[in-house]
Parts: sequence; structure tokens; C-alpha cells
Amino acid sequence: MAEQSQPRIIETAASMRAEVRRLQREGLRVGLVPTMGALHDGHLSLVRMAQKSCDRVVTTIFVNPTQFGPQEDFSRYPRTLERDLQLLREAGCQYVFVPSKDEVYPPGYSTEVDPPAVAKRWEGECRPGHFRGVCTVVLKLFNMIPADVAVFGQKDFQQAAVLQQMARDLNVGMQIKIGPTIREVDGLAMSSRNRYLSPEERQRALSLSQSLNAAQAAVAAGEKRAVTLAAMIGETLQPQVDHIDYVAIADAETLEPVDAIGPNTVILLAVKIGKTRLIDNCLLSPTRHE
Ligand code: PAF
Repeated sequence: MAEQSQPRIIETAASMRAEVRRLQREGLRVGLVPTMGALHDGHLSLVRMAQKSCDRVVTTIFVNPTQFGPQEDFSRYPRTLERDLQLLREAGCQYVFVPSKDEVYPPGYSTEVDPPAVAKRWEGECRPGHFRGVCTVVLKLFNMIPADVAVFGQKDFQQAAVLQQMARDLNVGMQIKIGPTIREVDGLAMSSRNRYLSPEERQRALSLSQSLNAAQAAVAAGEKRAVTLAAMIGETLQPQVDHIDYVAIADAETLEPVDAIGPNTVILLAVKIGKTRLIDNCLLSPTRHE
């Protein structure tokens, strides 16, 4: 059975590109799911989304050093390759691209992608250089793996917006799809970083989805003022989290703050619980990414 066979592991850009071109010459459509590994059901849902419109799927696993700040968790970021490969086999993913650091950033490498305006606020302010690293590595992955479709998660809402804009601006001829956030049964958005949380911290982390749910309920009940919603969210988060990086109520396209909830508004949250930084978001108009 196809879904039981081990995915083919490819480590070089040259073999990866040649294989994708070969598949496309055979008339097959190729999907790309870029990840940093430590896979969970959220990632696997993106693989399944790619499978819907593609004949073959390539998942990439590369913990990209250039998107981590000096004080961030690059060295302790979970690396679980054997388990990742098992999950990808079970999901029926045919290829896993696992490049070395030198394959992606060979000695002497010095070109970077300047991220679009939508990268400026929120994560862009809290994590200087982050989106430069993300745009650079993702454009490189697009060039190494010239797939037909690439899939990213809505969990990283701003990243998805940044990459869509980059793809438009730099004429990337690949369709970009965004898959919905996958949550644990209690509402916690799935994230590779959840495994850093102690049981007590994990309990407190529920305040993110709870505050978003409360805000959505308030909007459904007629609340339109961003300032009121932000205050509500802050009140839910404050007793539970150790630091609030931001509560943003913004236009889902530009990510500029709005005063009133419109037809295309997003709430973005970033907090710290203990040493772990968590983000979550919800669209107040869920039609945008469908
Ligand atoms: O979302 C991620 O896991 C990463 O930012 C990505 C898109 C794989 C780039 O390293």
C-alpha cells in the first residue's frame, strides 16, 4: 500500500529539483510542505491538504538557523527525525527533503530576502530578523523544490501573509495554500513548542484560545470596538501568562491595526509562559483563507 512505504529521503537540492522535474514531466502535480520538523497533527493536516490537489508531496524538515534570534530557542528546538519520518510514512507522504545547513547556506552565502511591509509589525517587531530568515529560506526551498503548490499553516498567520505577499511580489509561480489551525481537544493550538510546557504551564496556555473564543463570542453578540475586545483579551490573558508580547486586532490583509471590527479582521496574540513563547490567532471573518 502506497501509504505504508517509507518516504524517500533526499538531502541535496540538485537531486530534489531533478526528482520534482521528473515527476512533472510525467504529468504529476507536486505539493510542498515546508516544516522545521517536530511534526504534529497540524503539520500532517497540511500534508493531507497538499495531497488533495497533488499526486506527490514533499515535506521539508530543516530547522532554519537564520529565523531564530540570538536569545531564541534554535539550539533546543526539538529535533525528532525518526518520529517525523514515521508520521510522514503513515500520512502517505512520498518525499522528505532533509538538507544540511551547508546545503541550504553554503560557505560564502550572502544573499537575503528583504521581507514585505506586512512583516513589519507584531512578530516583526518582537523578533527582529525573523521574517528575513523565513523569507530567505522559503524562497530557497521554492527554488530547490519547484512544486506546483506549497502549503503553510494559518497558526502562523503573519508568516502566511508574509509568504503570500513575497510569492506575489517575486513572481513565484507556485500556488500558496493556507491550512486551518489544528487544536488539541481543549483548544490549545498545536505547536512544536507546546512540548516545552510543563503541565502547569500547559494549563495556563489554554488562556490563549479561551481569550480568542471570548472575543469571537463578543463580536457575535455585536461588539465592534477593537479597544474593548483587546481589553477583554488582556484581562483573560493577564493572570495566566508571564508576558504579553502583543494583542493585535488588525486588518487580515495588511495586518495594520483597526479601530472597529470589519469584514476581514484578525486577532493575533503572542505571549510568554515560562520560557515558552506561544502565538495564536483567529479570523473574525473566516472566509478569507478558504
Ligand atoms: O513555519 C515554519 O515551520 C517555518 O517558519 C518554515 C516556514 C518551515 C520556514 O523555516
